[in-house]
Amino acid sequence: MESARIDTATTPDLGPGPLQELTPLVHAAVREARGDLAEGTMVIPNANYTDPGIAARELATSFGAPLLVGPARMVERPGDWVTLTLVDTPVVVVRGDDDRVRVLLNACRHRGAQVADGAGCSRRLTCPYHAWSYDTSGALVGIPGAEGFADRDRASLGLVELPSEERAGFLWALRDPSGAIDLDAHLGPMEAELESWGLDYHVATTMELKLRSNWKCALEAFQETYHFPYVHSASLVGQGTISNIVTFHRFGRHHRLGVPLASMPTPLTDGEHVSCIYYLYPCTVMATSPVGAELLQFWPGATPSTSTVRHSVLSRQSVDEADVQAFYEGYAPLIQAVVRDEDVPVLESSGIGLAAGHTDAVLGRNEIGCQGAHRQILADLGEPAG
Ligand code: FES
Ligand SMILES: [Fe+2]
Repeated sequence: MESARIDTATTPDLGPGPLQELTPLVHAAVREARGDLAEGTMVIPNANYTDPGIAARELATSFGAPLLVGPARMVERPGDWVTLTLVDTPVVVVRGDDDRVRVLLNACRHRGAQVADGAGCSRRLTCPYHAWSYDTSGALVGIPGAEGFADRDRASLGLVELPSEERAGFLWALRDPSGAIDLDAHLGPMEAELESWGLDYHVATTMELKLRSNWKCALEAFQETYHFPYVHSASLVGQGTISNIVTFHRFGRHHRLGVPLASMPTPLTDGEHVSCIYYLYPCTVMATSPVGAELLQFWPGATPSTSTVRHSVLSRQSVDEADVQAFYEGYAPLIQAVVRDEDVPVLESSGIGLAAGHTDAVLGRNEIGCQGAHRQILADLGEPAG
C-alpha cells in the first residue's frame, strides 16, 4: 500500500502537550529496546468475553460512565447535526441556534422513530414516519393533523435530552437521561492532559463497522503494538511505527501509551516522533499523529460476541478548506483500510475463537495498555484482576 504524504508544515501549532516530556522517555525505551512492562501476565477469563450476564453488568457499570461522544466540533455551526448510537441508545448531536451542543435521544416522541440519520445541517429535524418536527433545541414545533393530539401538551413532547458536557474540546454524555454527569470525577487528571494539547479537532470522515467480536477484543487491538509486524507490515501504520515498545502513564481511570514512530532519529532532534495513544475509559481510543488523530469507539452489540467500532479521522485543520479536504481524501481511505482490512480480520478471529468457549485470554507484560483497560473494567465490575 502506498503511504499518503503527511505535510506537517501547514498544520496549526499545538499547545505544549505532553510530547516534550514524553519524547525523551520513549526515545530511551527505544534505545534500551524495552518499554514499560506490566508486573506480570494477566488472564482474562473466557466469560468476560462471552457471558451475557457479565455483558449486562458492564452496561450498568462501565457504560453507566460518561461516554466520549466525539470532538465538540463534530457539529461546527448552528443547525449542524450528527447521529450515532451510544451502545444501544440512538442519539442526535445538534448545535442549536443558541450555539449550545445538545445530545438528544434520537427517538420521536410520537412512536419512537429516528428523526435524523447520518449528518446534516437544518433548522428542523423532521421524523420520516408522520413528519413531526423538532427545532435545533429538540422542542416539538410541528405536528401534521395536530387536532388528533390536541389534548397533549406539546411543550412536554420535545426530544429527550441526555446529560452532556464539553471539556478539553470533546463532548461527553450519559446514556441515562435522569443521571447526573460528573466529569471532574470521571476525567480526573486526564482533563489537564487533554487540555494541554489545546485540541480543537474537526472530523474529516467517519466509518462504522459491525464486528463479530466482543467489544473488548476490538479495544485490545488498539492498545498494543505487539501485532504490528505481523498484521501491519505492508501498510503505513506498521511501517511508520517501532513495534512492541510503549511507555505507559495512568491518569485515573484512563491512560496514555507513548509509541515511537519510525521517524524517531538518533540523536533526537525536534519534531513529533511519538504518537500518544489514549485510552479513555471505558471504550474510546484516540491515537494522535502529526496531522491529527484517529478516534475509535467500541460499542458492545446485542450479544457479547458482537460489537460496533466507530472510527473517525480527526483533523487539526478545518476540513472546509479545499487543500485540507484534498489531503484527507487521499489519507483517510488509507487509514480506514488499515483498520478494516488489517485489524478487523484478526480481532474478529480472536472474537470468534473466544466465543467458542474453552480458552481464556492471556495478556503479556508487554500488553500493558490492554491490561490497564481490563483492570479498570474489572474494578468497576467488582471483580479481581487475574
Ligand atoms: S413516529 Fe415520528 S412522527 Fe410518528
Ligand atoms: Fe492494529
